[in-house]
Amino acid sequence: MTRIAENLWHRDESARAFWDQHQARPYQELLEDTICWAHPEVGEKWLDIGCGGGQLTGGLYRASKGRVGSIVAMDCAAANVEAITRLRDKLGIGDQPERITFQQGDLSFGLPQFEDNSFDGVIAGLSLSYAESQDPLTGEYTDTAFKEVFREIIRVLRPGGRLVFSINVPEPNFWSIFWKSIWPLKRWRRPARLLANIWEMQKVGTWLKVEARKGRFHYLQIEALRGVLMDAGFPAVEWRETYANQAFVIRVEKPVAMKQAVAA
Ligand SMILES: C[S@@+](CC[C@H](N)C(=O)[O-])C[C@H]1O[C@@H](n2cnc3c(N)ncnc32)[C@H](O)[C@@H]1O
Repeated sequence: MTRIAENLWHRDESARAFWDQHQARPYQELLEDTICWAHPEVGEKWLDIGCGGGQLTGGLYRASKGRVGSIVAMDCAAANVEAITRLRDKLGIGDQPERITFQQGDLSFGLPQFEDNSFDGVIAGLSLSYAESQDPLTGEYTDTAFKEVFREIIRVLRPGGRLVFSINVPEPNFWSIFWKSIWPLKRWRRPARLLANIWEMQKVGTWLKVEARKGRFHYLQIEALRGVLMDAGFPAVEWRETYANQAFVIRVEKPVAMKQAVAA
């Protein structure tokens, strides 16, 4: 039987703690590696799944020199709307809310709010692992929702559209990311707040690893990920290690012929 387990990603304090991640060097490497494979073009429509504080949304906007059409930033934590509103102001588009919108949504239920073929690109930073599902009879965690997310992404992408995402390696070493973030020492902005946020992030990190071992969350080796992506319909998988070797960044494209194949 299915029981609802606590999900720390829904808490405002967890969401806020992760807003400071961009100060860390390994995170900057991850951000750069992800954005550099995305190549947002003029007028394109993008979806950022599990947007958190909006680092990737902001990165897409800047990489396009403000010429991307629109970005939908989606996350399960309601508090992230504050970060996305601030981001719009920072980018000088506070008066154009349609350019970057926030939608609260849980990727474990797929992407039913979005139409087929409606995005040129989907980006997701360390978020897709958290699609969760349970067997209704036994209550055991399954990978059904995780696999379904990729089928949903290919559905909402236009033919030729691309997905660029990062995902943690199995048994990620969050402490190694922490040490690489603080060393060599530098002068931090608001160090007391940063320390409190690091504490919260490590707490979430420990919980994530425990839950991943139970099969609730999904940190996979690249060969297993390749299988999931190919089953969803993405034929060729480009990948590299990033984030102090604690994550993969992956780029795939929806085949141009896919829409016709489905329609036939
Ligand atoms: C490690 S953070 C990364 C945030 C952001 N993508 C970045 O790169 O900075 C993971 C994000 O995934 C979001 N998330 C986790 N589970 C989710 C779910 N089931 N549905 C939607 N978002 C989810 C969290 O709220 C969090 O913002």
